[in-house]
Amino acid sequence: MTNLIREAATAADHELSFDDWDEVTSPGPDVCGFDIVADKAMSRRGFLGALTVFGATSFLMGTSALTPAQAASRLSFRQVAANTEDTITVPEGYSWDLVISWGDPLWSKGVAFDDATRGTAESQELAFGDNNDGMALFVDGNRHVLAVNNEYTNRPIMYGNRESKKPENADDVRKGKAAHGVSVMEVVEQEGKWVTVVDSPLNRRITADSPMEITGPARGHDLLKTKADPSGTRSLGTWNNCGNGRTPWGTYLACEENFNGYFSSSDANYKPSAELSRYGVKTEDWGYAWATVDERFDIFKHPHEPNRAGYVVEIDPMDPASTPKKRTALGRFKHENAEVVVAADGRIVVYMGDDERGEFLYKFVSDGVYAVGGDNSGLLENGDLFVAKFNEDGSGEWLALTPEVTGMSEAEICIHTRIAASKAGATTMDRPEWVSAHPHKAEVYCCLTNNKNRGVKTNAGGDETPATGPNPREKNNYGQIVRWQPKGGDHTAAGFDWNLFVLAGNPTVHSDAYAGSGNVTADNMFNSPDGLAFDSTGLLWIQTDGSYKNEGDFAGMGNNQMLVGDPETGEIKRFLVGPKECEVTGITWSPDRKTVFVGIQHPGEKGDSHFPRGGDTVPRSCVVAIRRNDGGLIG
Ligand code: FEO
Ligand code: CA
Ligand code: CA
Repeated sequence: MTNLIREAATAADHELSFDDWDEVTSPGPDVCGFDIVADKAMSRRGFLGALTVFGATSFLMGTSALTPAQAASRLSFRQVAANTEDTITVPEGYSWDLVISWGDPLWSKGVAFDDATRGTAESQELAFGDNNDGMALFVDGNRHVLAVNNEYTNRPIMYGNRESKKPENADDVRKGKAAHGVSVMEVVEQEGKWVTVVDSPLNRRITADSPMEITGPARGHDLLKTKADPSGTRSLGTWNNCGNGRTPWGTYLACEENFNGYFSSSDANYKPSAELSRYGVKTEDWGYAWATVDERFDIFKHPHEPNRAGYVVEIDPMDPASTPKKRTALGRFKHENAEVVVAADGRIVVYMGDDERGEFLYKFVSDGVYAVGGDNSGLLENGDLFVAKFNEDGSGEWLALTPEVTGMSEAEICIHTRIAASKAGATTMDRPEWVSAHPHKAEVYCCLTNNKNRGVKTNAGGDETPATGPNPREKNNYGQIVRWQPKGGDHTAAGFDWNLFVLAGNPTVHSDAYAGSGNVTADNMFNSPDGLAFDSTGLLWIQTDGSYKNEGDFAGMGNNQMLVGDPETGEIKRFLVGPKECEVTGITWSPDRKTVFVGIQHPGEKGDSHFPRGGDTVPRSCVVAIRRNDGGLIG
């Protein structure tokens, strides 16, 4: 074990999220420059009544004149009760099957997952990655290809064969690198079950070492040049791919989130620049020890390397030989997902969240227009980047990130996007996670998962975080879902109207704003909405990544879960409960909507799960397929 590995392993001892780890190791300023957080005596009713939005109709969903009970429910399934079982629970009349788990080989030259060793670098390179997150199913004729992000690894699980529960040699570190990235594989339905087509020519592993092309305004900029790539146009690998997107022209978007946690410095006294610090890059990594086998992760030697991560990566899932493209035009931040819509004039609009406390919500508008069946490969290369500002009166505006506004060049805006957005005066948000656009009208939803720093401290850029607007609760431990309607129904418009679809909360514990909005009850309550996707009928599927303590503020909520909401009535029902200590993340449907694929990430992250195989087996992240027993449509 080298010194660097030992040092990194210290960080891994903290079983904290990336966000918490950043918080512990570099706390922001303690004092917040506003005082409105003090006396907000908010009765639940009074508080919700104060949130009046959506033009003249004025309501927060759940306090609408039309209650869910009065409207005919579009949610045809029987709600699942919260529970703390170590399995997946789906509604009566539905069943789930395993499709693929961490370590399952994609090629016959690979080997089956070995509980004793949990694999080697070589076996992992030939197998499905770890901690699957966003995913999308692509169809070409009768072939189905599933592209899945493999976000990160839990060291105590990945290295559970080691006494230290940490990477102890170069092969261990390489195994970890190979468990990241994206897994692409053909799947087929056989006797009612979806299985992987081992050895399909379409199968592919993209890892932290796969060649990438850097495109867009920042391509070739000095800040992207390194010793290994003096042109600043070619980088290696993608990692910490969280949510995803898909384009109308059939490509997959993998979004790089907590890329910072993999860099470290061989000189502990090295002081990262203010720009690196804004993104949480530190002299210690998060326990992965990648710099011990791959020098480019050493920021003392290669300070520009982190500038080459934090992007949206466009991948052609049907061409395993294609080079993934980093789209700098979509900005650099801790990308959650990328929701693509085609505006009325044919331009492409991409909505994107930056998942960190007090960071921002963004929109990209392409220069070019979408050509059905034409060459759209350059559409994400150039366009305009905007950041959201929410006003108290329910209006909002997209602030353009231009050289005039920010004093930065276009390339610098694409590299140091957070800094540009701070200069523009964007609204600090409660950790924007997935964004999803309604399939039948111009209305867009975003999960604001939680933010214990709301009203307590600034973001890493020193921007204040008042408990106002779409982020109305200080020390927000439950989260909410905001939605907006672009002016004139035009996604390229500068203005929008917003309101809250739901404020999560616990009405069995609280009677104030922390009880949640009126569409939250003792029967459907949840915390920390994260994954979010509309199905083709316009129902909103909500996945959670929150506290599963099931006590205190979270009493009665059970394990992480998936719910379905009706945007028209505000009704929300729980559809699924995940196994112990997992998050539910990633969702995609078969074209006939008879199967919904759902991701289960990090079951047993604290050591108390044997999902999916039970007994005393190693817990494994996995993708499951859910179907109705009668073969009907899902939803
Ligand atoms: Fe990877 Fe923001 O979740
Ligand atoms: Ca997420
Ligand atoms: Ca999350």
